Amino acid sequence: MISKIQLGLILPWFWIQIYSYEILLDHNKNDGTWMVRNENGTYKVAATVPGGIYTDLSVAGILTQDIYYRFNDIEYRWVSKENWTYSRTFEVSEDFLEKQQIFLVFYGIDTIASVYLNDQHIGDCENMFVRYSYNVKSIIHTGTNNIKVKILSPINEAKKRFEKQATNYIVPACVPDEYHGECHVNFLRKMQASFAWDWGPAFPSVGIWKSVVLEAFDIAVLREVMLQTVESNNKWSLYLNVFVETGNQTSNISGNFSASLTTYTNLVTVTKYETLSPYAPGFFNTILLLEIPKSQIQLWWPNGYGDQKLYPLEVVFSNEHNSKSTKTLKVGFRSIQLVQEPVAIGTGLTFYFKVNNVPIFAKGSNWIPSHVLPEKSAEPKRIEYLLESARIANMNMLRVWGGGLYESDLFYQLADEKGLLIWQDFMFACSMYPTDDNFLQSVSTEVTQQVRRLQHHPSIAIWAGNNENEAALRDNWYGTSNDFNRYKQDYITLYVDTIRNITLAQDNVRPFAVSSPSNGIESEEEGYVANNPSSTFYGDIHYYNYISNGWDPDTFKVTRFSSEYGYQSMPSFLSLTEVSIPSDLRLYSEFTRNRQHHPYGYPEIIAEIDYNLQYSHNLNDTEQYPIFIYFSQINQAMSYKTETEFYRRSRNLLTSDGQGLTMGALYWQLNDIWQAPSWASIEFNGKWKILHYFAKDFFAPILVSPYKRADGVLRVDLISDILTDMQCVLNIFVYKWNSLNPIYNISSNHTLNNASVTNAFNHDMKEFLQIAGCGANETTSKCFLYFTLTSLDGEEISPHNFLFPQPLKKLMNFTAPDITVASVSLAPNSQNVFEIELKTDKIALFVWLEAYNIPGHFSSNGFLMVKPNISITFVTKYNVDINKLHEAITIFSLGDYYKE
Ligand SMILES: *[C@@H]1O[C@H](CO)[C@@H](O)[C@H](O)[C@H]1NC(C)=O
Ligand SMILES: *[C@@H]1O[C@H](CO)[C@@H](O)[C@H](O)[C@H]1NC(C)=O
Ligand SMILES: *[C@@H]1O[C@H](CO)[C@@H](O)[C@H](O)[C@H]1NC(C)=O
Ligand SMILES: *[C@@H]1O[C@H](CO)[C@@H](O)[C@H](O)[C@H]1NC(C)=O
Ligand SMILES: *[C@@H]1O[C@H](CO)[C@@H](O)[C@H](O)[C@H]1NC(C)=O
Ligand SMILES: *[C@@H]1O[C@H](CO)[C@@H](O)[C@H](O)[C@H]1NC(C)=O
Ligand SMILES: *[C@@H]1O[C@H](CO)[C@@H](O)[C@H](O)[C@H]1NC(C)=O
Ligand SMILES: *[C@@H]1O[C@H](CO)[C@@H](O)[C@H](O)[C@H]1NC(C)=O
Repeated sequence: MISKIQLGLILPWFWIQIYSYEILLDHNKNDGTWMVRNENGTYKVAATVPGGIYTDLSVAGILTQDIYYRFNDIEYRWVSKENWTYSRTFEVSEDFLEKQQIFLVFYGIDTIASVYLNDQHIGDCENMFVRYSYNVKSIIHTGTNNIKVKILSPINEAKKRFEKQATNYIVPACVPDEYHGECHVNFLRKMQASFAWDWGPAFPSVGIWKSVVLEAFDIAVLREVMLQTVESNNKWSLYLNVFVETGNQTSNISGNFSASLTTYTNLVTVTKYETLSPYAPGFFNTILLLEIPKSQIQLWWPNGYGDQKLYPLEVVFSNEHNSKSTKTLKVGFRSIQLVQEPVAIGTGLTFYFKVNNVPIFAKGSNWIPSHVLPEKSAEPKRIEYLLESARIANMNMLRVWGGGLYESDLFYQLADEKGLLIWQDFMFACSMYPTDDNFLQSVSTEVTQQVRRLQHHPSIAIWAGNNENEAALRDNWYGTSNDFNRYKQDYITLYVDTIRNITLAQDNVRPFAVSSPSNGIESEEEGYVANNPSSTFYGDIHYYNYISNGWDPDTFKVTRFSSEYGYQSMPSFLSLTEVSIPSDLRLYSEFTRNRQHHPYGYPEIIAEIDYNLQYSHNLNDTEQYPIFIYFSQINQAMSYKTETEFYRRSRNLLTSDGQGLTMGALYWQLNDIWQAPSWASIEFNGKWKILHYFAKDFFAPILVSPYKRADGVLRVDLISDILTDMQCVLNIFVYKWNSLNPIYNISSNHTLNNASVTNAFNHDMKEFLQIAGCGANETTSKCFLYFTLTSLDGEEISPHNFLFPQPLKKLMNFTAPDITVASVSLAPNSQNVFEIELKTDKIALFVWLEAYNIPGHFSSNGFLMVKPNISITFVTKYNVDINKLHEAITIFSLGDYYKE
């Protein structure tokens, strides 16, 4: 029997969710709450565990404003320069103490800390990604006990560690000044972005960010289960690697190990009695095998390829002395491979994922922590909302990026349920890292624990050693070229000999990439630091270009897999309003400057807008500021649309030298960490930018994709990710700007090839426009093109698409449309889905609807209106009065700001 005392100020749901068999000693009965104080006791306040110091000081009223308000990223920095001691008392009963083993387990302490029980030092922590357990049997006693966790200032500790190493390790001096950040976070195993990033503020928090549990048991506790699913002719073999832990003993343990999997029709069970000897003092493991007839299992698929079937599994360790420890999880049956094979023509290797033997075009984005405070980043509602938004936008893969956190169990469970494959970085990004024994030891424990915790999730597609560190080393980002060989050796020691070896030793069923971008196995063959880690012939690339026109497909590179790309835009006026005063809201304010961490960020946004749109408003005027925000979001959405469609169209392309066969487009970045200009498609408050609505379309399973390249030819490609061929009809319409009636249209029938790109139309653009009636002068912009794709019986199978033959700033005879909400009604059989009828009197570009402060999203937004009436829906989680919604909706479109 296991008894557990939860030492956090935890709500009851937390207990119920995690533990299946236990004696609960409620913390109130136990008469203890956590307190936190600084070194000299000038601050002493109630604390929350799991939690963190910024939240505690906010709750206590010492930090009086929202931490993201105005300049608080700088004003509140003092907090992270203090040492903070968390403490509490608790009682234990005699029953509890009778157990043979008593462990005090900290699931996560952030970061450099010493732990005391009853004033006895029981250990030190230095890695926020590691679970620390202490055998406290000999220290704990009946009656009142006390715990103290003294956490040192991360800023000072990082500096101290840097200085200790500085003579033999000169690694990046600091983040750029624009970040308003702190230095040397690479010396701490802490969320790297907590010292600031180009999209986020520095809040170097401290705290006990995960729960604290006192475990009492007689024999052993079941800690982790890893699994492997192996398919054969008529059955699935499910191999379980079960890890149990006990005290610091070298003797054997005995007991029953059992596992049962619930399928739709059956309970498949195996039980065996075993006597195990430890692989390390106190650590044991055993393998269980469950064999399940294939007829009882349906496969797990990524979003868009099929259902996400998951089967409950319960694994139990029990012993005749009434010892019992249980772990439950959900199993998805699927295979996964990363295919790197020579291409048919020219140089290079493919780079794509196969799930259940089906090649998958990876569509998605990059995930950063959802909040800068680790304890808030795991808030279930926020995580659920963001992952659901990714699913709705037709994504099937997210990359959990290496400067953030290994995410919560819930995050990966939801990824499993929503069919979002996870490219999982280990937490190393944009830096060189130490490789002293102590650091390597800490990383080894981190990697072992994280792989064991996460490995069973079918969503995890690949492990990756780091973000951009191979490229940084090769391209001398941090001034390491003078001593290249030495840094290279350190790179290999950390990512190859340590992280890769440990990961593959535990999980040999998944691919491992040492870095991103990298050349995959070609990088390995070139000694792990390739001559050009960003080669388009191998592996993945990160591609950013703020100089060329982002609406021009010739700006982009043909690649195997683009795992990062993008452009910045502003967050909405409403989000900025929440953290500013009115005079902050203009481009040339101190506030606006403080929020932009990306060097040259604003000039780049302005220059990119200027390629295509005519912006003639006063950037320094608060009233005109929303127009700049809107223009920046149009530019961002159009650029990602152009780039992503370019990647998707290159799926079957293979140039004579061997470039092409693109199979991945993961844009930077899905979510925001605060209210600031960034590459995100979803703002910090959850609001979708224009880009997120566009993503839903440009990631659609079937897409009609028109484009014009440098040769002047209008081409239309039909992109299909679905696995069957189908017949379809392509319709091309030509409109003049001043009429809702097309001046020309043609239709053609095509076979839409499965999982492929079909070229459906080619015509010289100039000639085509002339035929359509747009005149002979191609440098003027009298017309634009509009595209739909239907099945033979007229059903729409792709989002509509459009193409502007010339930059919009040249368009002629365009006058502002008058767009109105004709009606708002509740959708049939629904509480929270509203139908909205819109009317326009003219062609309308980038029609943008806002529901002011009513949270929710539209079925479509930022769209072109080429019909006098359209109907869209608005989905909200809240009970909203129809009239209130109607009143809240505001509409604007490009024409409102267009000046000829
Ligand atoms: C306590 O420490 C704070 C921060 O280090 C310092 O500003 C303050 O003067 C100290 N107070 C006393 C009473 O020592
Ligand atoms: C925090 O603790 C460290 C190590 O004991 C010490 O050097 C430092 O002065 C302390 N900082 C403060 C603000 O008390
Ligand atoms: C475990 O045992 C080893 C060797 O007997 C000893 O060095 C170590 O301190 C013990 N650890 C604990 C947590 O009891
Ligand atoms: C890593 O694994 C490889 C292959 O299994 C082995 O040759 C090498 O010695 C290992 N390196 C370390 C440092 O364990
Ligand atoms: C922007 O406006 C502020 C407030 O009116 C003014 O002080 C500042 O000089 C202006 N800056 C620029 C660059 O126009
Ligand atoms: C497309 O095929 C349908 C059904 O076979 C036929 O009725 C229609 O005329 C064809 N359209 C064109 C443009 O060829
Ligand atoms: C085309 O139109 C542009 C803009 O009105 C004008 O400057 C140019 O001379 C025209 N070219 C021809 C060949 O008519
Ligand atoms: C623009 O509109 C005016 C007035 O309706 C018309 O005279 C002119 O020809 C139009 N220009 C173009 C390029 O269509």
